[in-house]
Amino acid sequence: MKSIKLVSGYEMPVLGIGTWGLIGEKCKEAVTTALKLGYTHIDTADYYHNHKEIGEVIKKFNRKKLFITTKVQGSGLDYDSVLKDCDKSLRELQTNYIDLYLIHWPNSSIQIEETLKAFKKLVKDKKVRSIGISNFSIRLMKEAIEKSEIPISVNQVEYHPYLNQEALLESCKEENVVLTAYSPLARGDILDDKLLKEITKKYNRTISQLVLRWLVQKRTVVIPKASSEAHIKENMDIFSWKISEEDMNKISSIDKRERVVNSSFSEFED
Ligand SMILES: NC(=O)c1ccc[n+]([C@@H]2O[C@H](COP(=O)([O-])OP(=O)(O)OC[C@H]3O[C@@H](n4cnc5c(N)ncnc54)[C@H](OP(=O)(O)O)[C@@H]3O)[C@@H](O)[C@H]2O)c1
Repeated sequence: MKSIKLVSGYEMPVLGIGTWGLIGEKCKEAVTTALKLGYTHIDTADYYHNHKEIGEVIKKFNRKKLFITTKVQGSGLDYDSVLKDCDKSLRELQTNYIDLYLIHWPNSSIQIEETLKAFKKLVKDKKVRSIGISNFSIRLMKEAIEKSEIPISVNQVEYHPYLNQEALLESCKEENVVLTAYSPLARGDILDDKLLKEITKKYNRTISQLVLRWLVQKRTVVIPKASSEAHIKENMDIFSWKISEEDMNKISSIDKRERVVNSSFSEFED
């Protein structure tokens, strides 16, 4: 699996399996299928309530080869709650470290320094390898970077052709922060797009593959959620081919400023 080096020094696989909405047997089946097919990166969160299922699956695989991202909820960002949440996540995931620990959502009622101090302690205690943020605007990301005593490796945000956040991506690159694109398929909304369909013909690929390739070619990490084996497999075929610059630009110009997650997001925007 292709990976990207984080500012923390660790390698992060550029394709992961998203697990929002996957619980119980469905979650275990999808994650097992993904790992068997060669995925090494799993994206979860305390909020998804599927740590236990994921823990049961990953103990059957070589932990050293896996990259687990999880997130602390935006409602529990004070120092003690973060430490407690991390211990709970470690117990549920049946592992002794988390590869990447993210602040799930910004929370203006808690000083970011306080949360980041707890993150620093988790890294010092070797419970967490790399830290990051999620759903942070450029301004909030810069504030977090300035106030953190250890490097912020990742900002995980919604990113797909209907929400092409180029300014945020450029800012991440300038700050040496890797952008992880969540909801990369816009939860299915882009799958009937006429222009995307037209472009796929040239490459003999599906719309999902085209969009995931577009994102990877923009140097983002992608975490599509898929539950069927066919989709999980299909989403892996994004590395052995390239999209021309002209088509990259065509896809980039589709942007509709359309969010599929949290339409009240504007309250966090600059
Ligand atoms: N940090 C955050 O606040 C945040 C917010 C949202 C999401 N996320 C993360 O990002 C992950 C992905 O985002 P998402 O779950 O919102 O949406 P998504 O990955 O954009 O879309 C998932 C949908 O696309 C379908 N799909 C997947 N591969 C396909 C393919 N090859 N062909 C056709 N359909 C396909 C899936 O169907 P099937 O299930 O039937 O295969 C599912 O209905 C989440 O699971 C979560 O881990 C993070």
